[in-house]
Amino acid sequence: MDLSTSILGLKLKNPLIASASPLTGSLESIKKLENNGISAVIVHSLFEEEINHEIHQIDHFLHINNDSNAEGTSYLPSEVDFDNLQADQYLEKIRRIKEGVSIPVIASLNGVSSGGWVCFAKKLQDTGADALELNITYIPTSLELEGYAVEQMYVDTVATVAEQISIPLNVKMNPCFSNPANMAKRFVEAGAKGLSLFDNPTLVDVDLELLTPLQRANITSSGRLSETLRWCAILYKKLSCSLCANTGIHTGEDVLKAIMSGADAAALASVLLIKGEDEIKQILSDMGEWMEKHEYESISQMKGSISLIHTDNPSIYERNSYMYALQHYRR
Ligand SMILES: Cc1cc2nc3c(=O)[nH]c(=O)nc-3n(C[C@H](O)[C@H](O)[C@H](O)COP(=O)(O)O)c2cc1C
Repeated sequence: MDLSTSILGLKLKNPLIASASPLTGSLESIKKLENNGISAVIVHSLFEEEINHEIHQIDHFLHINNDSNAEGTSYLPSEVDFDNLQADQYLEKIRRIKEGVSIPVIASLNGVSSGGWVCFAKKLQDTGADALELNITYIPTSLELEGYAVEQMYVDTVATVAEQISIPLNVKMNPCFSNPANMAKRFVEAGAKGLSLFDNPTLVDVDLELLTPLQRANITSSGRLSETLRWCAILYKKLSCSLCANTGIHTGEDVLKAIMSGADAAALASVLLIKGEDEIKQILSDMGEWMEKHEYESISQMKGSISLIHTDNPSIYERNSYMYALQHYRR
C-alpha cells in the first residue's frame, strides 16, 4: 500500500502532518510525533507581536524622553536589557528541530501586517526550515474598513513574505471571505505554493466570575470537517499549489474523505491534543484497512476522486445539493 504523497514540493511518506499546536513546540514532542509515524510537522507559530516586541522596545527608548530634550535619541540605553528574546529563541528552536528529526520541518509565522517583522521569514529560511507557513488572522473591528481593503492587506502580506524567501510558502487561509476561491487564487498569484484549508478561529466567551471577555483555543471534532471538504473539492486542480486539509481531521475516514475531495495531505491538531501522539498509528492503520477493503493501492489513486473537477457547473451543483439536503431531511 502506497500512502506517500507530497505538498509544497516536499515528499511525504503518508498524508498526516502535525498542524501547529503546543505539541509541535519542542524537539522532544516533535520526536514523539515522528516516532508515531507523522510525515511532517508545522512548528508552533512565532507571532508578529513577539518579533515586534524588540522593535517596539527600541522605539520606546528612542521616544520616551523626546518631549523633555530635543536630543531624545541619546536616551537609548547603551546596553538595552531586552526581556524578550522569543524571536531568537524561535530561530534556535527550528535549528535544533531540523537537526533532531528526519521528517520535513515547516516553520510558522503568524501575523497581520506587511511591516518589518516579515524580514524574519528570511531568517527562518536560513535555519534550514523546509518550508514556511504563514497564518494571517485579522479581526476587523472598524465599521469603516471595507472588505476589499482587508483582502488586499492579506494579499500584500503574502506577497511581502513570499519575496523574502526561496523555500515554499504555505498560506493557512481562513474561510471568512466573500469568495474563498478567489482569495486562494490571489494568494497563489502572490507567491503561495500551498494552501491550508482552513485555520480555525479561537472561541469567544465571557468569564462570568471575573466579568471579562475571553478567548479559548478551539478544540474541534470531525463535525467541523464540512468546510474543509467543501473547499478542497472546489479548489482541486484549479490552482498550481498543494492543498492541505486542516480543521476537523480526527479519524482515518476523515483523512480519506479529505484526500478524495482533493487534499494532498491532512494536518492534525485537536485529535493529537485530545488522544495523544499514539493516535497517529491508529489513523494510519484505519486508512490502510479501508483502502485494502476497497481495493485502493495508493493515495494518488484516490486523490480528488469526488472533487468538483468533473462537475460541469459547480455552483449549480452546490445549490442543488444544498436544496436537496434541506428538502429531504427526515426525522
Ligand atoms: C491549543 C492550540 C494551539 C494552536 N496554535 C497554533 C499556532 O501557533 N499557529 C497556528 O497557525 N495555528 C495554531 N493552532 C491551530 C491548529 O494548527 C489547527 O489549524 C486548528 O486547530 C484546526 O485543526 P484541528 O481541527 O485538527 O484542531 C492551534 C490550535 C490549538 C487547538
